[in-house]
Amino acid sequence: MTGIKLGVLVSGGGTNLQAITDSIERGKIKGEVSVVISSNERAYALKRAEKHGIPGVYINRNNFKTQKEYEEHMITVLKAYDVDLVLLAGFMKVLSPVFIAEFRNRIMNIHPALIPAFSGMGFYGSRVHKAVLEYGVKVTGATVHFVDEGADTGPIILQEVVPVLDDDTVDSLAARVLEVEHKIFPEAVRLYSEGKLVIKGRRVLIKNGK
Ligand code: GRF
Repeated sequence: MTGIKLGVLVSGGGTNLQAITDSIERGKIKGEVSVVISSNERAYALKRAEKHGIPGVYINRNNFKTQKEYEEHMITVLKAYDVDLVLLAGFMKVLSPVFIAEFRNRIMNIHPALIPAFSGMGFYGSRVHKAVLEYGVKVTGATVHFVDEGADTGPIILQEVVPVLDDDTVDSLAARVLEVEHKIFPEAVRLYSEGKLVIKGRRVLIKNGK
């Protein structure tokens, strides 16, 4: 297999992982998911990996004395699979500068809101959508960004808006945002794999706009 080698970090259901593997199988992204690393032994994402014949590795944080040792182990696994780009696809652990430095500008995250709104420390999972509804904004959305040392602060690659409807609940809103995540995350990976992303300071420019 030629093309980009992806390492996907997960903790949960893995629908974003599924969107990536679907895009690869449809030929939209040229490459492969080389390894899936889960912080949760029971993550359904590991089952999805197995179904696609992708190596799935559960790495238990509790088996390591320090965060540094935990991350060094993940780096060793990602390197063993020769990973070009790391995707955080619902990965519920914070990564330290040690990990970020190792894959500088080669880590992408998907966030279920329009960063910088409803992002940063404490904004994860359904908490994001709950905060959106409580605030009363009329639009939310999804963001794919490169990961830097901050919480959801790295350069933004793609964003797409999702309207908030009068009768939305946390679940209905999460479901519509998730549909958009499944569109823009693979698209960002495709752009990266084709060398179309240029980082200029905080901005990410897309060569030829497509
Ligand atoms: C998504 O909403 C993503 O934005 C967030 O965690 C969720 C993961 O969902 N970071 P899944 O495991 O990909 O289904």
